[in-house]
Amino acid sequence: MGANSTYLFVLYIWVALFCKSEAIIQIPLPSGNGPESIVFDKSGRGPYTGISDGRILRWDGLRSGGWVNFAVTSPYCVTRTEDCIGSTARSLERKCGRPLGLQLNKTSGDIYVVDAYHGLMVIGPEGGRARPLASSVDGVPFRFLNGLDIDQDNGDIYFTDTSRQFERREYGLVISTDDSTGRLMKYDSQTKQVTVLLRGLFFANGVAVSKDKSYVLVTETTRNRIQRYWLSGAKNGTSEIWVELPGSPDNIKRNSEGNFWVAINHALAVKVDRDGLIIDVIDVTKVSHSISEVQEHQGRLFLGSVLINHVGVY
Ligand SMILES: *[C@@H]1O[C@H](CO)[C@@H](O)[C@H](O)[C@H]1NC(C)=O
Ligand SMILES: *[C@@H]1O[C@H](CO)[C@@H](O)[C@H](O)[C@H]1NC(C)=O
Repeated sequence: MGANSTYLFVLYIWVALFCKSEAIIQIPLPSGNGPESIVFDKSGRGPYTGISDGRILRWDGLRSGGWVNFAVTSPYCVTRTEDCIGSTARSLERKCGRPLGLQLNKTSGDIYVVDAYHGLMVIGPEGGRARPLASSVDGVPFRFLNGLDIDQDNGDIYFTDTSRQFERREYGLVISTDDSTGRLMKYDSQTKQVTVLLRGLFFANGVAVSKDKSYVLVTETTRNRIQRYWLSGAKNGTSEIWVELPGSPDNIKRNSEGNFWVAINHALAVKVDRDGLIIDVIDVTKVSHSISEVQEHQGRLFLGSVLINHVGVY
């Protein structure tokens, strides 16, 4: 081999190795930003994600039109779409809606969503306008809904209200005042009633039900920890600190094995097993510099973020 071809060969190997270790894709949004939570439907289509202008979008793949409008949560946004599309203004969030946590009902194919301003809602498999399920508890409207998960056996929904004092657009104040008025709540699918399970949480955020349904987890963003609330057994109805984390946790999602992916805001994906042991930590900074959710789907990690304008794939 001459010097030139040796050089090319080395370059080729280097590029091949480099590209392999950087298995990174970014799916840019059409407009707006902040794809906070991610879900796939019954047939594996998606990701679906809720963004800053109030829309919930579905990714159909590059060859099938890219992102399509799937649903909206705010009544205003249904009729006056053009006022909202592409908005990243916090002042428009209440008007246009701000869909955050998403979860699929695996039986019916409905998608459940918590809108930070408009309450707990459900969207049929065909999309369109989300239908409200609950917007208050004990007569007091929710203030800042954020995360949810569903018990896929009985249909009960667990969700968080981050603060009783501040709305999502004021989330900086939840942090700076060290607000501890966050709550974990339950929507009973039979009685349609909401009950408060835990009060006094610090920036209550992501929610995940365990695979065996014996407990539900809730992240406390400003305490770098996750609490476990028992749903059965000797400790039923009590809670405890489940794991302390190396940063501020946002959403938490269970994978098919029964382990959990926790998104740490400064772009760490942390995998925790069912007993609360950290079993993997992945730095995903190269895909997204700030993340809100890690959703495992067919061997890949889909990364949501409230700050940036793409969905990351790792
Ligand atoms: C999911 O769908 C099934 C079948 O329609 C229903 O029985 C169940 O209550 C639903 N889950 C929720 C969370 O509503
Ligand atoms: C757990 O306690 C709740 C009330 O706090 C009760 O409704 C439920 O049936 C109990 N679950 C089990 C499995 O014991």
